[in-house]
Amino acid sequence: MFTSTNPSDTNEVIATVPEATAAEILTVLRTAKNAQKGWAKLPAPTRGRIIANVGRLVESNKEALAKLITKEMGKVYSEALGEVQEVVDTCDFFLGEGRRLYGQTVPSEMQNKNLFTFRMPVGNVFVITAGNFPTAVPSWYIVPALLCGNSVVWKPSEFTPAVANALTEIFHAGGVPKDILMTVVADGVQTFAALESGLKEGVINKVGFTGSTEVGRKIGAKAGEYIQSACLELGGKNPMVVMPDANIDLALDGALFAGFGTAGQRCTSLGTLWIHESIYDNVLAKFAALVENAAVGDPFKNVLFGPMISQKYLENHLSHLKMVQSHHKVLGSTSTGRITAANPRKGFVGDPDKGVFAHPVIVAGITKNDELYSTETFGPLVTVGKFSTLDEAIDLANGHGYGLSSAIYTNDPQNVWRFREGISAGMVSINNSTSGAEAHLPFGGNGLSGNGSRQSGIWVLDQFTRWQSMNWDWSNKLQKAQMDLIEIKHDPNFVLKS
Ligand code: UN1
Repeated sequence: MFTSTNPSDTNEVIATVPEATAAEILTVLRTAKNAQKGWAKLPAPTRGRIIANVGRLVESNKEALAKLITKEMGKVYSEALGEVQEVVDTCDFFLGEGRRLYGQTVPSEMQNKNLFTFRMPVGNVFVITAGNFPTAVPSWYIVPALLCGNSVVWKPSEFTPAVANALTEIFHAGGVPKDILMTVVADGVQTFAALESGLKEGVINKVGFTGSTEVGRKIGAKAGEYIQSACLELGGKNPMVVMPDANIDLALDGALFAGFGTAGQRCTSLGTLWIHESIYDNVLAKFAALVENAAVGDPFKNVLFGPMISQKYLENHLSHLKMVQSHHKVLGSTSTGRITAANPRKGFVGDPDKGVFAHPVIVAGITKNDELYSTETFGPLVTVGKFSTLDEAIDLANGHGYGLSSAIYTNDPQNVWRFREGISAGMVSINNSTSGAEAHLPFGGNGLSGNGSRQSGIWVLDQFTRWQSMNWDWSNKLQKAQMDLIEIKHDPNFVLKS
């Protein structure tokens, strides 16, 4: 049994759910796989209508779902509402795709022959997601996968099973058959074992994974063994570059939200704030003051961030504090580590001893050789460093090998275009935070952040469909491509008379 608790008050049990074994997951995978062909026969516009129903139900249950997210996962309620809105936006985008899912008609090099392309569903999709976005990120997989005619088995985070079950119920209430979307809660070991046997048996035809680079590497390798490419959305160490000409207050608003929103537990959270040397001291001091004065605590109140997702995430954060070195300057709070009555945070909202709250931390003076430079911290910890030229900033922003999100604050178009061209991240913000991507632009990363797969918008269709090309020769004779060429009369030596 898995028991999820409220991270703001760990004595409050939110849900106790059965823990699936690898064998049980495999049975579920087989059931969904068997049902998929029937679902794919339903016309795509009808599947689109079902997605429309789901979107409307998510919308009408928005507050209830958001409350559950805040209780089970700990993000502040306004962010939880935003997360649920992202599910609605995803449904709204894909309900229309049911009436498109365009293929092409393509001219043939021969007469009396026509060429076409069709998008075919891949089959059964195994989706494995993290606890930080318990509805929005799963919906990025589930909604387009279903719309394209696939079945889905979803393994949510064991930290958010109540949210996962609530979202699954909404999908079913909207008209998605129960054997077409099936949700199983399991630990990593059982999930990986089921992944391996499901791939071997052919009941998994696509894997979608959002989580750490370390786990993504293993999942990607396993899928590769079975000649599949997983859709991987992995870690980040997202840079934000502040040029001397930037609107500093705007940049600081962005850094505060990106660094500490969701307690820094977004894959798009700010990693390192890179400040130009000419404004470094001033901007760092302002940033430190903002963080010191920000409200932390009860996520249902008006605070910058609430608790960490769970004790495990808190421990991970504490392990990163050990990477702070003597040349670093630690700023941002009255202390570091867990917030408790004995280790208080100025202005804390609520009772810190009840939950897993952490002090926000700024580690200033980061350099390329520091462990923290290349470590995804996934908690309320932002590193800050300085640079002298834009080229150096780009080099620092790319140098760790992650490439998910990035941002530059500047009012000079030359800087914008040079940064866009030089940055290796999949997503670039100009005068905006590294987090907060819109639900219909390609989302995904490069290098350690992903294998180039993209979610959202029309781009994710390539994850959940395969192109089938068809040629139809109605000439009633064998016409040979590349061999039966139509002769063209022309004069290759023609020159205009002067
Ligand atoms: C994630 O943390 O895995 O862009 C996704 C953002 C959100 C999604 C984050 N819309 O910050």
